[in-house]
Amino acid sequence: MRTTVMGLGKMGRALAAALVDRGHDTTVWNRTPGRLRDAPFTHAVTHAATAEDAVAASDVVVLCLLDFESVVAVLDGVDLRNRTIVNLTTATPAEAAKLSALLTERGADYVDGGIMAIPSMIGTPAAVVLYSGSEQAFRRSESALQAFGEARYLGAAPGMAALNDIAMLTGMYGMFGGFVHAAALVRTEGVAVVEFTETLLVPWLRALFPALVDMAGQIDSGDYTAKESDLSMQVANDGISVVSRAQGVSSELSDPLFALMRRRVEQGFGGDDFPSVVELLS
Ligand SMILES: NC(=O)c1ccc[n+]([C@@H]2O[C@H](COP(=O)([O-])OP(=O)(O)OC[C@H]3O[C@@H](n4cnc5c(N)ncnc54)[C@H](OP(=O)(O)O)[C@@H]3O)[C@@H](O)[C@H]2O)c1
Repeated sequence: MRTTVMGLGKMGRALAAALVDRGHDTTVWNRTPGRLRDAPFTHAVTHAATAEDAVAASDVVVLCLLDFESVVAVLDGVDLRNRTIVNLTTATPAEAAKLSALLTERGADYVDGGIMAIPSMIGTPAAVVLYSGSEQAFRRSESALQAFGEARYLGAAPGMAALNDIAMLTGMYGMFGGFVHAAALVRTEGVAVVEFTETLLVPWLRALFPALVDMAGQIDSGDYTAKESDLSMQVANDGISVVSRAQGVSSELSDPLFALMRRRVEQGFGGDDFPSVVELLS
């Protein structure tokens, strides 16, 4: 498939390399020329001199630029008729919807994407890229997009990929926050963080992961009746802030969460399971 990659930063270079690896006829363009100087595949791609040439070269045009504004600037005045624009530049759902409207009006089919990977993961089974927008355009481009990793289509609303991307990052940062707090606690007693993480924390988190799906079921159904550990019990034993204080560690990461749990109990939902807290966020 003839593909174009616009934007040869760290991620764009990885995307272009993955397309070349899979044998796609690839054209590349970057605002600042010479970005592929050191890349082993630079001779296997066509270098477009202008954004117009880059878009004209392929039916599927992948953009991976810094932000929404750079995408608007780069495509300004370019003929987009009959082109599939796959925008892998990180965007908000509102920006994705805006771009979709703007580019569709100019004759393009728009697919928005969220890359759930870092550049070294691109082209490996560990990479997942979320897509939303024109389903027809996604299906037409799918065989090329699979070069990047698993291609997951989430629906016609252009902002769905961006929303799910941010939701996944939210879950990730929640886990990272818990991790650094745990690390701060154990190292107060000279415990090696790597040993704690490998032998205790990771196995514990792994054992808990399946519970997330059960919690998700409670949120979908709205039935939070506690099965084993209700909120009243959990806030009564807020050992996290007590022990953190005693060890000289800040509990500023976990305090807001426990404040929400206590508020839910005060509202009379002490018999609920933890996911009941979602009602305070919505
Ligand atoms: N790197 C990651 O781990 C990662 C992971 C997931 C998603 N992403 C997303 O992928 C996108 C690119 O990230 P990156 O890591 O490749 O960033 P990067 O290395 O900083 O590259 C940025 C790219 O955007 C171009 N650019 C910036 N402003 C521009 C403008 N006004 N007009 C035209 N081109 C412009 C740069 O061109 P010049 O060379 O001319 O400056 C460069 O090609 C971002 O939206 C990022 O959120 C990155």
